[in-house]
Amino acid sequence: MSERGDAAYPAPLRSERRQLEPFGWYREMRESAPVRYDSERDIWGVFRYETVDGILRDHETYSSDREPDVDAPPSMLSSDPPTHTRLREPVEGRFAPGEVERLAPEIRRMATELVEEAVAGGEMDVVDDLARWLPTMTIAALLGVPPEERERFKEWSDTIVAGPQLTGGDREALQERQEAAGREMRDYFMEVMARRAEEPRDDLISDVLLEYDGGDLTEGEIRGIFELLLVAGNVTTTNLITNAVWCLAANDCVGTVRGDEDALERAVEETLRYRSPVQWTSRIPTEPVEVEGHEIAAGTPVRTYIGSANRDPAVFDRPDEFRPDRDPNPHMAFGRGIHFCLGAALARLEARIALSELFDRVEDVRLATTDLEPVAGTFLYGVRELPVRFERRG
Ligand code: HEM
Repeated sequence: MSERGDAAYPAPLRSERRQLEPFGWYREMRESAPVRYDSERDIWGVFRYETVDGILRDHETYSSDREPDVDAPPSMLSSDPPTHTRLREPVEGRFAPGEVERLAPEIRRMATELVEEAVAGGEMDVVDDLARWLPTMTIAALLGVPPEERERFKEWSDTIVAGPQLTGGDREALQERQEAAGREMRDYFMEVMARRAEEPRDDLISDVLLEYDGGDLTEGEIRGIFELLLVAGNVTTTNLITNAVWCLAANDCVGTVRGDEDALERAVEETLRYRSPVQWTSRIPTEPVEVEGHEIAAGTPVRTYIGSANRDPAVFDRPDEFRPDRDPNPHMAFGRGIHFCLGAALARLEARIALSELFDRVEDVRLATTDLEPVAGTFLYGVRELPVRFERRG
């Protein structure tokens, strides 16, 4: 989800404290400048629920083609129909809620293993001991990548989505590492695709190759889909799992969701709203548009602040309260319209399983520090470490 010409944070969010708590600034913007032009970066920002919703649903006026890079094959996330349809259709069925449910036993097995080890002492880092691993292990299982490759997987996708840290961030060095990771990942997928073409297995890579290679999609496009799945489903889901433990522990409500599938589901939805793992995305108007009285030129990026829309009091009662039983909860943490997150059902499933496995084994969960640091990566929202203390149950 890289963006053209607006890679950096807006000036008001250029401190770690503000990145962890951007919500006060969002409130100010919703009230006083809900459609805001940032002359420093030549980009617009929109903050209200209704406006964000309208823009994300209108893919004809607002393009997702943010990366006019002629060398790379187009990506689903950054393309418009008909290319978008062609790239999404081959994998859409595999990500439907009923389909991903089939992965539940395998995800639970992996989560149990991680949690058992993590809770051996009276303290754990939720990120490093659990949340960091489960999403990559899940995608690897879905794609059919053997467990021993998963460390490398993790490393590539972490590097590719990383943004420079505010202090000592070296853009060029990061860019070089990102390019190298991109190349390695590409070579890796080319090799696996060649192997699966010769000897298909019961996995997503084989399925897509059998059905589409040489037909609707080029080999580069197929590879691009797998690379996107790995990158898009990794840190986002890590942050969801971590943010859920953070919210529940900080509000002392782990006990209210333990052993109750429905309660857990609502708590995951409230985490998605309250500490949205993706805080914004962007669109490029294909023609001059007027948004709430502001003229926006064609081609100027518009950043849609999902994290702000999810705190809009026009839609959510007491939006700045974390209420784990909030229902209904029409948050837009997974976006809207044709680009609605392909992995939403999978991310929800992973989070529910991770939390239920963890909370079955621990009680009295407390944050071990209040000194939290935001993750690197401008549109991503989460913390680098989340140390918690707890008592073991039973
Ligand atoms: C909590 C976890 C996640 C969050 C918050 C999240 C959020 C989002 C958002 C906001 C979008 C829309 C972006 C836009 O409209 O510009 C999106 C798209 C996408 N996500 Fe996710 N995502 C998550 C997990 C996943 C997972 C697990 C996968 C795959 C395994 C995934 C794959 C994708 C793909 C492929 C797209 C592009 C869809 C399209 O353009 O049609 N995401 N995600």
